Amino acid sequence: MVPTTQLFEDHIPLLIPWLGEEEINAVAKVIRSGWISQGPKVIEFENAMAQYVGTKYAVATNACTSALHLALRLSGVGQGDKVICPSFTCMATANAIHHTGALPVFAEINPRTYNLDPEAVAEVITSQTKAILVVHQIGLPADIDSFKVLAKKHDLILIEDSATSLGATYKGQRVGSLGAPTGFSFHPRKMITTGEGGMITTDDAKLAEQARILRATGASISDLARHQAKGVLIQEYADVGYNYRMTDIQAAIGLVQLSKLETMLEQRATQAQRYDVILAQIDEIEVPYVPPYATHAYSSYLIRLKPNCSIKRNELLQSMAEKGISCRIGIQPLHWEPFYRNLYGEMHLPITEDIAQTTMFLPIYPGLSEEKQNQIIYILKKLLKRN
Ligand SMILES: Cc1ncc(COP(=O)(O)O)c(C=O)c1O
Repeated sequence: MVPTTQLFEDHIPLLIPWLGEEEINAVAKVIRSGWISQGPKVIEFENAMAQYVGTKYAVATNACTSALHLALRLSGVGQGDKVICPSFTCMATANAIHHTGALPVFAEINPRTYNLDPEAVAEVITSQTKAILVVHQIGLPADIDSFKVLAKKHDLILIEDSATSLGATYKGQRVGSLGAPTGFSFHPRKMITTGEGGMITTDDAKLAEQARILRATGASISDLARHQAKGVLIQEYADVGYNYRMTDIQAAIGLVQLSKLETMLEQRATQAQRYDVILAQIDEIEVPYVPPYATHAYSSYLIRLKPNCSIKRNELLQSMAEKGISCRIGIQPLHWEPFYRNLYGEMHLPITEDIAQTTMFLPIYPGLSEEKQNQIIYILKKLLKRN
């Protein structure tokens, strides 16, 4: 469905969420049902996610940040611990670590996949290291088997941040079912959206049960169970919890979105291939690399400008914007943020820094027409003086 607001009319945006009449009808149905907070639709969405990903359990939350926080806390990460993660990620990855009382330790990424480099991770493991938070960045699974070996060798907890990579596969298996508790995001920049929202997928029955309790203020009984018992059940609080609940309104949107995911994955793959074929012919540009063990979900399409590129990244971004095309800089390294500069002082991660300064996202989203994509490519080539 084409949005009816003016927000998207005067330019090609980085993305438009692919929402339509089905989502609108699903939301209307929930509102008419009289139950709009966490309830039966959330359970249905959790079951659908567990089935899609291939895990025994899925626990819905209000965001991926809270999903990761719960996964870390319930796996045993807490005060004084250190958790290794990339600096080349969203602030939310590290925030989830801080919420447990632990501190992130930033490790280098692989220059081709932009995912954590197992060898760099091995170098920063110390006696204080408790866990590795592996990010499957912008749709591409990290080489999880290498991290499993490391975790086993050093007796570390492994958690996966798959905020951006629902639908991607690693050695034929969908992310979320690769072994460690995994967090997903349903923010509009992700593979499917519920506006805001998150999910933990896991095969660990105890972790799932505890996560359900902690996401809802720590209450032993859910609102729905109490309602179904006509109010005679009384909850207890064995621990301090949070309000990390997803609403049934969000879950109803999520169910429709999940049913469209395969179509969305196909559209993204077709668009990525179109970019790949044309942009790979331009010597100054490096297109995304997909290792043989993975399929890419292309939640984003990140190009890298090589050193021989005649125009600087920020200049190119600005010129694209002036021509009506919204791109974005790649991911800003966390160790450059004021918070971490104050906390850790100057830090250097040369690969991360180089990639952060030379990469940019091009628009990619279900519903982006071939005509508009050709326009993006045409303008990009023109700015690079290639036509
Ligand atoms: C890699 C990564 N992890 C975690 C998050 C946090 O997701 P949410 O906004 O749902 O909390 C994001 C969101 O941008 C992300 O890109």
